[in-house]
Amino acid sequence: MSDQTVMIDARGDGSVEVSGRHVSLHGLIPPHGGTLVDAMAGPERAAELRSLARTMPSWDLTPRQLCDLELLLTGGFSPLTGFMGPADHDSVCASMRLADGTLWPIPITLDVDDDIAGRLRIDDLLALRDPEGVMLATLRVETVWRPDRGLEAETVYGTRSPEHPGVHQLLEATHRSCVGGRLEGVVPPAHYDFKHLRRTPAELRAEFVQAGWRRVVAFQTRNPMHRAHLELTRRAARKVGGQLLIHPVVGMTKPGDVDHATRVRCYMALLDRYPPATTRLALLPLAMRMAGPREALWHAIIRKNHGCTHLIVGRDHAGPGSDAQGRPFYDPYEAQEMVRAHQDELGVGMVPFQMLVYAPDLDTYLEEDRVAAGTRVVTVSGTELRRKLNTGDELPEWFTFPEVARELRRSYAPRDRQGFVVFLTGLSGSGKSTIAQTLLVKLVERSSRSVTLLDGDVVRKYLSSELGFSKEHRDLNIRRIGYVASEVARHGGIAICAPIAPYDALRKEVRAMTAQQRAGFTLVHVATSIEVCEERDRKGLYAKARAGLIAGFTGISDPYEPPDDAELVVDTATTSAEGVADLILGHLETEGYLRTAAAVELAS
Ligand code: PPS
Repeated sequence: MSDQTVMIDARGDGSVEVSGRHVSLHGLIPPHGGTLVDAMAGPERAAELRSLARTMPSWDLTPRQLCDLELLLTGGFSPLTGFMGPADHDSVCASMRLADGTLWPIPITLDVDDDIAGRLRIDDLLALRDPEGVMLATLRVETVWRPDRGLEAETVYGTRSPEHPGVHQLLEATHRSCVGGRLEGVVPPAHYDFKHLRRTPAELRAEFVQAGWRRVVAFQTRNPMHRAHLELTRRAARKVGGQLLIHPVVGMTKPGDVDHATRVRCYMALLDRYPPATTRLALLPLAMRMAGPREALWHAIIRKNHGCTHLIVGRDHAGPGSDAQGRPFYDPYEAQEMVRAHQDELGVGMVPFQMLVYAPDLDTYLEEDRVAAGTRVVTVSGTELRRKLNTGDELPEWFTFPEVARELRRSYAPRDRQGFVVFLTGLSGSGKSTIAQTLLVKLVERSSRSVTLLDGDVVRKYLSSELGFSKEHRDLNIRRIGYVASEVARHGGIAICAPIAPYDALRKEVRAMTAQQRAGFTLVHVATSIEVCEERDRKGLYAKARAGLIAGFTGISDPYEPPDDAELVVDTATTSAEGVADLILGHLETEGYLRTAAAVELAS
């Protein structure tokens, strides 16, 4: 909140408190604000709820649920007053309307595990807590139910394909049971970053009133903004004859997106490029669903709640791109059609834009459908941008401003300065440790980055000494290795891991953990056969396993799931450890994580 805190009476009694003074709203509030839900309890009720909390069942919210809760409590999701039950959910899925007929395109549900679902009774109060255990709100249980998630995927996302990130989340990372009911907020979710840019809907509305902004066009984004975005947003504000709210999503976006801290630094760097007093930046703690057309409609409702009168809808708004076959999940301008069809009912005007492309000979940006035949145009795709960041190539000035490029560079070191993980998996005795040690020496010779070896035996001695070899314990062991390795890589180091890691899901989890830290990951399957490993039997463990002295021994009496996603598959029966280490180094060079000998020579 800024120094000039202004509070709006969300219940609409016609007055607003601006810096301690009551000011009549009549004729001032943007005409499209609408009634705002305020689900926060007053101080006395909040204290009462806190004292009741000891006897309440309690649920720790996931990051996604935390985002939803925040917007429910502050009115960003008005007219919703809580998490949906089956009547609203089914109606939203089928017709984009709540059970009472109000337009609302996205189900907002609270999924919980079966244990808590089984213990809840109608009218119970459920305490909703953040990851630190702070009670943020209570939910008065109206219904405990199981939505048809397949049908939800089909109707809301238009597909059941788990390649769609929203569908993947819904079908594979959501509990089956849901609790619906009204919320009472005790304390808003805490944020420690960019506090000066966080605004509730009421705060933003009041700021617009105070500044005399009557027509406010919102720009929704989950990406860094470049010159094309500056052009587009300035043109949009001119088109509506109003001011601009840059309203980026900082809750959850598409996996692999630029992290929000880097993006916010980019937006802040860009702000000076707008004419003074025409543009504001505020952060939106939304968990996106990437639901394309329905999501665009949802964004319009959310922006209306934040006091905006218009929303910019560009090409493929909130779309997740294409599936593995290259088929786009949504048509590029389907979202515009959806918002256009409902804008009158919503009371939010759409400012549609085609994709902007740069015409170097004219030194200007043009909407792609307005490019005259024969005009030369250039663009930088997302893939090309990522490639340039990875290789350290210059970002052209026509594409992005130097101050934005500088912020991106601060977060995206070129690959030859990024950390990475080499993860060796294979049976006991397959040669993982020898390869790991050989590789370590070669990496130390070649790179100034620190190298950490997380060998199976060593890890079990220092990190996982209390663990055995049940599936549960093996998973925990690999999760620990993955956590340490991804931290090493996050800080620019190299981690070599050499556990058996027999389970595919856990190896994939480590890969995802590492990707989240923007570090490289190379999976090497040391596929030396069980016969060779058993014949070597350097530790005598296979003999013991055969004699039944060791239970659950990998490859003998416990499973090993061979990876289908390994970057390299090697066999130490046919290739020496030194040869395998060289193969790995070659792969790292090709991927750009290590400089080739020629490049090193050139640089020196
Ligand atoms: S796991 O599954 O990844 O957690 O296993 P890991 O930590 O890599 O295993 C380390 C070493 O433990 C020895 N050992 C066993 N391996 C497999 N199954 C059972 N039951 C078992 N009991 C002990 C084995 O020597 C592993 O070392 P490596 O270096 O792979 O030979």
